[in-house]
Amino acid sequence: MSQLEVRPLRRLDAEFSVPGDKSISHRGIILGGLAAGTTRLRGFLPGEDCLTTLHALQTLGCRIDRVAPDEVLIEGRGGKLLAPAESIDCGNSGTTMRLLSGVVAGQPFTTRLFGDASLSRRPMARIAEPLRKFGAEILCEGTGNRPPLTIRGAQLKAIDFTSPVASAQVKSCALLAALQADGKTTFREPSQSRDHTERLLPAFGASFRTDKQSIILHGPQRLEGTELDVPGDFSSGAFWIVLAAGLPGSRLTLRRLGLNPTRTALLSALLRMGAGIMEKIEQTSPEPMGTISVQGNRGLKATTVAGKEIPNLIDEIPILAAAAALAKGVTEIRDAAELRHKESDRLAVIAENLRLFGVPVEERPDGLSIEGGRTLVGAEVESHGDHRIAMSCAILGLLAKGRTLVHDTACIETSYPGFAQQIALLQEVSR
Ligand code: S3P
Repeated sequence: MSQLEVRPLRRLDAEFSVPGDKSISHRGIILGGLAAGTTRLRGFLPGEDCLTTLHALQTLGCRIDRVAPDEVLIEGRGGKLLAPAESIDCGNSGTTMRLLSGVVAGQPFTTRLFGDASLSRRPMARIAEPLRKFGAEILCEGTGNRPPLTIRGAQLKAIDFTSPVASAQVKSCALLAALQADGKTTFREPSQSRDHTERLLPAFGASFRTDKQSIILHGPQRLEGTELDVPGDFSSGAFWIVLAAGLPGSRLTLRRLGLNPTRTALLSALLRMGAGIMEKIEQTSPEPMGTISVQGNRGLKATTVAGKEIPNLIDEIPILAAAAALAKGVTEIRDAAELRHKESDRLAVIAENLRLFGVPVEERPDGLSIEGGRTLVGAEVESHGDHRIAMSCAILGLLAKGRTLVHDTACIETSYPGFAQQIALLQEVSR
């Protein structure tokens, strides 16, 4: 099985950019596949999760050409997809399965979606419920509403739905169904989740309005192909931001990074911890993008993250936990029970791994208390097949004393091809 060996990094003085945003790449492929005409995505993330979505849309009859490793041309089917000849493999990707469900629910055929062992453990009631209200038939074959899913599409009817979870996957699933449904759909969520779908829909010619916490969309609507530049993935940049923030004397500049405020709550948390970070937004539409500069210092201190901040740093909690391990005092992470339903049970796995690096951690049903400020000791750790855990442990290894070995690191390919090479490069120039 693949593994990554990491030695302490002595210094960091670097400027680079990270691969394209995963969430935006998924959405670009899906909306492009539904639209009429051609969509060009530049800066597409060629990670396994997005390639899974790309293959899924091909199985549904879309012609998609990869004109460069990070550039794709999609010939959309003007809302009329083809019945797939086989079950669709969603791999490790919850975004693929949940967003695609909203698409195929509105198509006049039956689709079966399945995934790997990790995806097969993830809850699907959250999307099955609204899709059934829209009028689709959803069979969750796994116990407890888990995948595989068999979806019999129908002519959908608009719904009024309040999601119990702040989840962009649920919201996007519902909006993709609403685009195909007759009438006015109203969607609410308990707090704002990432808003990439809302930002991209107008670029594809769709319209909707927002009213307080609601999104109101009248269907059916026809999408038109477009051209999109995908910014670098903030969640990938986050690993280097924490590394630089925690390494005294370091300097880091990340260019063309996605800076959508529904994704960047990690920056606010790090600023509260005393990190030296500057944000410069250079483009605002359809997605904010710009430059992040970080200066490392010795004085990180503990903070609390909870409540509405959680959905806006949900994917960054593994790396925030690494920052907490460096910070003096006890960092509290609360209201984050959702982390138990990600690619792994992230609360349990973060706690297990931090302890191996010598960090005292208390695990709670919805969060962690992390006592930081001690010297980190290199460790041998398991990723549990979870890409963000694997990368966070590698960063901890760069900040720890001695040798770190992260097992089962092939999963990094799902979101960050080139991560291990970037570490090797940083180690090379720091010698
Ligand atoms: C994503 C939404 C989030 C996030 C995931 C990507 C998306 O999941 O954790 O990595 O692209 O919509 P939830 O919607 O389950 O919070």
